[in-house]
Amino acid sequence: MRLDNKVALVTGAASGFGKGIAETFAREGARVAVVDINAEAARQAAALISNKAIAVRCDVSQHADVDASVKATVDAFGRIDILVNNAGMSHVRRPMLEVEEAEFDRLMAVNLKSIFLFAHAVVPLMRKQKSGVIINIGSTAGIRPRPGLTWYNASKGAVNLVSKSMAAELAGDGIRVCAIAPVMAETPLLPTFMGGDSPELRAQFKSTVPLGRFATIQDVANATLFLASDEASFLTGNVLEVDGGRCV
Ligand SMILES: NC(=O)c1ccc[n+]([C@@H]2O[C@H](COP(=O)([O-])OP(=O)(O)OC[C@H]3O[C@@H](n4cnc5c(N)ncnc54)[C@H](O)[C@@H]3O)[C@@H](O)[C@H]2O)c1
Repeated sequence: MRLDNKVALVTGAASGFGKGIAETFAREGARVAVVDINAEAARQAAALISNKAIAVRCDVSQHADVDASVKATVDAFGRIDILVNNAGMSHVRRPMLEVEEAEFDRLMAVNLKSIFLFAHAVVPLMRKQKSGVIINIGSTAGIRPRPGLTWYNASKGAVNLVSKSMAAELAGDGIRVCAIAPVMAETPLLPTFMGGDSPELRAQFKSTVPLGRFATIQDVANATLFLASDEASFLTGNVLEVDGGRCV
């Protein structure tokens, strides 16, 4: 199996992409920490994965929570080989000046500051091991922005870029860092991105994707698995678009 003997911590793993990534990693042999702000959903997701998973309640924007989730993972499994910074949120699609300051601050804390906090908690462990992989879930929104999602787009542009910057800085420690940039997908966040939900809205968004559909959770999990595995041992600093050609 592709992740035999590996330990992975996946944030936002109670739903959507994170849940699919956690399940896929476990299927490939990894022991997984399902880390999420929604404790009950995390517990259910970890239970589906069985004894290869633990559930940890954590708000990724909170320093103490992040440190505690890393400690819980190391206590349970002894190490962390793979960190997936997936937890994220968006403001509802609307004109940029209608998004309130508090919403902006929350968005940046959950989507970006979380990566800062997890870097502080996990990089020292990976440095000691002289190995590790960090995958950040960015977005096509940070490459080819759409109107109505300006502050979300900015947060994901930062996620895409910080992945390259971390890769450059951590390569000497044997730590690889990559980002995944998915196009819109069928997760609970979809109506937030579209600013509603209707067959017309769906058709409108799909028409901008050359391959003619949304991403699936498994599309994103498969790409994350590849980047996390030793098959990608010479890849670092990549922002891998999983987007059916949207960014071409
Ligand atoms: N769905 C898409 O179309 C799409 C496209 C590109 C990128 N993304 C990104 O993918 C990632 C996952 O999104 P998704 O679509 O699977 O959404 P989702 O809502 O299905 O899952 C997000 C998970 O993160 C958790 N979460 C939210 N805030 C948290 C916090 N502060 N601390 C810990 N956990 C928290 C939620 O409880 C939830 O389980 C996000 O970073 C999102 O921006 C999504």
